[in-house]
Amino acid sequence: MNNAEQHDAFLDELGIGPVWKLHDSSASIATISHVAEIVPVPRVVTPVPAIIPVGDGLLRTLTTDSVLGGTSTLAPAATNMDQAISILPATSTAVAEMDWTSLENTVAACRACQLCEGRANTVFGVGDQRAKWLFVGEGPGYQENLQGKPFVGPAGHLLDNILRALGMQRGENTYIANIVKCRPTDAQGKDRAPSPEEVAACLPYLKRQIALIQPEVIIALGKTAAVSLLDLDPETPVGQLRGKLHRYQSLPLVVTYHPAYLLRKPTEKSKTWEDLCLALRSM
Ligand code: URA
Ligand code: SF4
Repeated sequence: MNNAEQHDAFLDELGIGPVWKLHDSSASIATISHVAEIVPVPRVVTPVPAIIPVGDGLLRTLTTDSVLGGTSTLAPAATNMDQAISILPATSTAVAEMDWTSLENTVAACRACQLCEGRANTVFGVGDQRAKWLFVGEGPGYQENLQGKPFVGPAGHLLDNILRALGMQRGENTYIANIVKCRPTDAQGKDRAPSPEEVAACLPYLKRQIALIQPEVIIALGKTAAVSLLDLDPETPVGQLRGKLHRYQSLPLVVTYHPAYLLRKPTEKSKTWEDLCLALRSM
């Protein structure tokens, strides 16, 4: 099978057949696969003190023991020096200076919003820490909460197929993260969108991930990712945002439909392909 046939086979696999063609005739799928550049980054998680954003907008520094040793409740004040040893100003300032290890440990122990109550795992993000492509979803669902990894349920399966259609795969030149790191559920235990307060509490972590990765393009998957990163009215429909090149700080950002929406409305998949072609051209 040559490249083009392989590409068509992937598109067939997505159930979108010949509509999923690159619109820019100067770019072929072969060019796209050359975008992938695998830079292995050793991932060593060592116990370090972590700084925990708390609801009052302050930071409490926890000792290694309390972060990694299973203590997940914060002492209200510094009565227990093993737990709360200092209070620092401005949550996002400290998070904005963290390295990968501190950031990951901080998220794992975070209790900055109510979503910490129901979680089985935080879902930090996965992929190449020097990825050119950053995909941002909304928040963990049922499977993600259980496994601690983003996009591992049915929507994740479609995202993997989309990556393959682009000549990429999870972890190679791609990073996948979410706006919130803990699963939002409603009173019936079903997935729901995070509230503006939950987004505000969690966004500093994603912002730091973006600053560390420095991707060449950000793909916002769905409305929550788009409006949170672009700081727009939460009711702005994806239909109004897709098809244009936006900027997150200086980085190109393209909005497209969330894979879970595409599972419900497969006829919209061709629009997602157009959006990804736009992303490619922006790089
Ligand atoms: N939906 C999302 O937005 N993110 C995930 O990680 C899984 C499903
Ligand atoms: Fe912390 Fe984010 Fe989880 Fe809220 S959703 S507890 S801010 S990691």
